[in-house]
Amino acid sequence: MRKIDGKTRTLGLIGNPVEHSLSPFIHNYIADKMDINTVYTTFKVEKDDVLTAVKGAYALNILGMNVTVPHKSAVIEALSDIEPLAKAIGAVNTLVRTKEGYKGYNTDILGLKRELDDEGICLKDEHIVILGAGGASRAIAFLCADEQAGEIIILNRTLEKAQDIADNVNNYYGKNIASAGTLDSYDTIMTDNKYIAIQTSSVGLYPNNNQAVIEDEEFYTKLKCAVDIIYNPLETQFMKLAKAKGVVAYNGLKMLMYQGISAYELWNDIKVSEELIKELYSCLERQFNE
Ligand code: ATR
Repeated sequence: MRKIDGKTRTLGLIGNPVEHSLSPFIHNYIADKMDINTVYTTFKVEKDDVLTAVKGAYALNILGMNVTVPHKSAVIEALSDIEPLAKAIGAVNTLVRTKEGYKGYNTDILGLKRELDDEGICLKDEHIVILGAGGASRAIAFLCADEQAGEIIILNRTLEKAQDIADNVNNYYGKNIASAGTLDSYDTIMTDNKYIAIQTSSVGLYPNNNQAVIEDEEFYTKLKCAVDIIYNPLETQFMKLAKAKGVVAYNGLKMLMYQGISAYELWNDIKVSEELIKELYSCLERQFNE
């Protein structure tokens, strides 16, 4: 067990709720294994207290923070600097201490990028369909555009939210790359190309393990690859439906792990080894299999 002493640097997560987060496990595991003197804990912060909390964290010499729901956008006002893609998305999940204040990053998208790289999936020129139009969908749509995907379709129960993301992406990149539709309009919107599907809605999340945002089997015949950002359960109904049509499917556990690793690397200016990443991944997987 690592010793906490006068030189220990504090890291933490602000959000509400925070008690079920896996982030303390991820960051304290890496610190232990790499013998880096940091400790990571959670801070439950109410909506009206976000700016005060960040100011206080800086005054307390806290090395870095993660930010989760519902504060990922509100926190931006408290930053001294922001990474351009995080600014475009309008959501930050990692604060890195600098001389001027905290700089904001979005390691959720770095996490997805690293997961896709790991699985040998390159988004360039690909046809992508994103299911859901919440905060995660917005970040992923920007990532796809940034990686020069050929086409991005956002399907959502509420059309206006999908349209808003598509408009934002098209305006930001100055081209008509993204379009929107309702969930049942996939058939008319998706072309004959094979799509990479990224599932970002909350449908299928534990304990609703048997639900998928699109249950129509026909949809899955249009895919060449399916990625769910849900990791609990490890195999979602969306993944099962994709696999039933012979489509390779991945869960969101690597995305979660890599968003954490990317943040820890930024805070400590280090690189986590491939070996440690594999070890950490096995530990995380075991938590859900137990
Ligand atoms: P996050 O910020 O994590 O992406 P969110 O903003 O709560 O999460 O978004 C949840 C997504 O799941 C939304 O796209 C939501 O659809 P609506 O925009 O129509 O609300 C989608 N979702 C949640 N429950 C759903 C359901 N029963 N059927 C279809 N979509 C659903």
